[in-house]
Amino acid sequence: MPISYPLPDTIDPSRLPRHIAIIMDGNGRWAKQHKLQIALGHRAGTENLREIIRNCSDIGVKALSLYAFSTENWNRSKSEVDALMQLILDFFDSEIDELCEKRVHITILGDKAGLPDTQRVTLEAAEQRTAANDGLYLNIAVNYGGRAELVRAAKALCAEVQKGSLSLDQIDEQAFSDRLYTGGMPDVDLLIRTSGEMRLSNFLLYQCSYAEFIFPEKLWPDFHVPDLHECIRVYQSRDRRYGARRAEE
Ligand code: FPP
Repeated sequence: MPISYPLPDTIDPSRLPRHIAIIMDGNGRWAKQHKLQIALGHRAGTENLREIIRNCSDIGVKALSLYAFSTENWNRSKSEVDALMQLILDFFDSEIDELCEKRVHITILGDKAGLPDTQRVTLEAAEQRTAANDGLYLNIAVNYGGRAELVRAAKALCAEVQKGSLSLDQIDEQAFSDRLYTGGMPDVDLLIRTSGEMRLSNFLLYQCSYAEFIFPEKLWPDFHVPDLHECIRVYQSRDRRYGARRAEE
């Protein structure tokens, strides 16, 4: 039976981040620290993932985006790429029933056409099976690049203008945002990157425009629900001004 983690008193449940994005960094260093093969570091990084997803769904976060595999990750060794692809399959096979029960809505961010057939079919099936669900939006970025996502949205708009179904005047920030993989979801409020690295690495470039960034030192497999709650607490302590001055200034 999974442990359930209620929100601590230090967090205001009425001001939760609506959309949390996580760059799950540090699996390789974790494996090295434990004298294990890198694949086992990634495997460890799917164990805590389950509790993080479950908790986001339980506490009422609207969207959770996870960076599982970037377009640059193809440049890693074949054995590491194979291990990551297998883990993604295993994850969906083992989790899909519970995710459905929790009414989680799965969206794959990235170019599914560039994936091996088995992965593509599994990911598409998960999207279809959860399409009508109204719970947490769970976005898994696989074969994803933020710049490529922006180019794709620009092309979609151009194609609609060319076809005559959209006029140039109708192109605004909302229209652009609607053509992203995350169309219809709130922008990212909180971006977490574990392992102390402080980079965005081409993740959700448009959606993170006003996100608060938090960079915990812990390696991803060591990051658990209490660490997520601490990030939310820090997020709530930040003063989000969106370019404006504080009221008293
Ligand atoms: C970065 O750590 C992590 C990745 C490239 C992959 C993240 C994938 C998972 C946690 C598992 C698969 C995901 C799902 C949704 C099933 P790194 O290897 O770059 O770490 P390092 O910087 O310490 O080497």
